[in-house]
Amino acid sequence: MSLVLTQNNDRILTVSLNRADKKNALTLKMYAQLANILKAAAEDDTVHVVLLKGEGGCFSAGNDISVFAQRDEGDSISDIVAFMNALLHFPKPVVAQVEGVAVGIGTTLLLHCDMVYCAPATQFCLPFINLGLVPEYASSYLLPRLAGRRKASEWLMLGEMFGAEDAYQFGVVTAIEPADTLGEKVMSVCKKLASKPVFAMTHTKKLLNTEKEVIQQQINEELDVFLEALNTDAAKEAFDAFINKRPLNTEKFK
Ligand code: COA
Repeated sequence: MSLVLTQNNDRILTVSLNRADKKNALTLKMYAQLANILKAAAEDDTVHVVLLKGEGGCFSAGNDISVFAQRDEGDSISDIVAFMNALLHFPKPVVAQVEGVAVGIGTTLLLHCDMVYCAPATQFCLPFINLGLVPEYASSYLLPRLAGRRKASEWLMLGEMFGAEDAYQFGVVTAIEPADTLGEKVMSVCKKLASKPVFAMTHTKKLLNTEKEVIQQQINEELDVFLEALNTDAAKEAFDAFINKRPLNTEKFK
């Protein structure tokens, strides 16, 4: 079974992360698949809207940490970059349905979706600092603008979980929906979006995204530091501790 599932119904392309046993943590292969799906959907006239969700009651636990742990210095992360670019430049509406956890890129990718609906128990987290890493996907630019510098600093410097209410109050999600009607709500929004005039919709999205160039520049700057951070002792320690399910040796953080 593929780790990313797609279904095109009534001009709505549903893209589901399908690795529930690993909380839909994203491997390089999954990023490559997602990038290809989005690139094809951008050109496909039968797709008016993309709905992004996760299987198994969970959105995504972010980057698969074992990919980073096994990575040799200089190894390419071009699949991750290809996915980021495909979503950043995707010309049609993208709606995210979020439940369970949305961690790391599982949260930062939401900043590039047009509408985001989550269940009340959803937990969000930007844990990069605790992994010896830095923000990615322009979150260091977008979050202060969305949530304010204070909240962005708290989320990015402490790296703790936060709930749906905080995510809603600070603009990460459009609305919180009861878990049992979340899917229905999201589908009804997608149906409305799919029925709108295509020319007007794509141009509305384009007009709303006025900061693409600066966002792209921030993504590139973050990536340079992110790649450097991956090779630090702090990051190696954090990855090893997670994989081996052992406490962190914070001596390595000094
Ligand atoms: N990378 C690799 N594996 C991951 C993962 C990730 N990001 N997130 C979860 N998994 C795996 C776990 O190792 C576990 O595998 P196992 O069953 O073989 O032991 C499985 O998914 C279930 O995760 P578990 O930790 O048991 O679930 P939980 O509900 O207790 O906690 C999380 C869920 C997401 C809070 C926790 O798994 C976590 O913190 N993951 C790391 C998230 C992260 O830091 N992502 C950003 C990377 S840049």
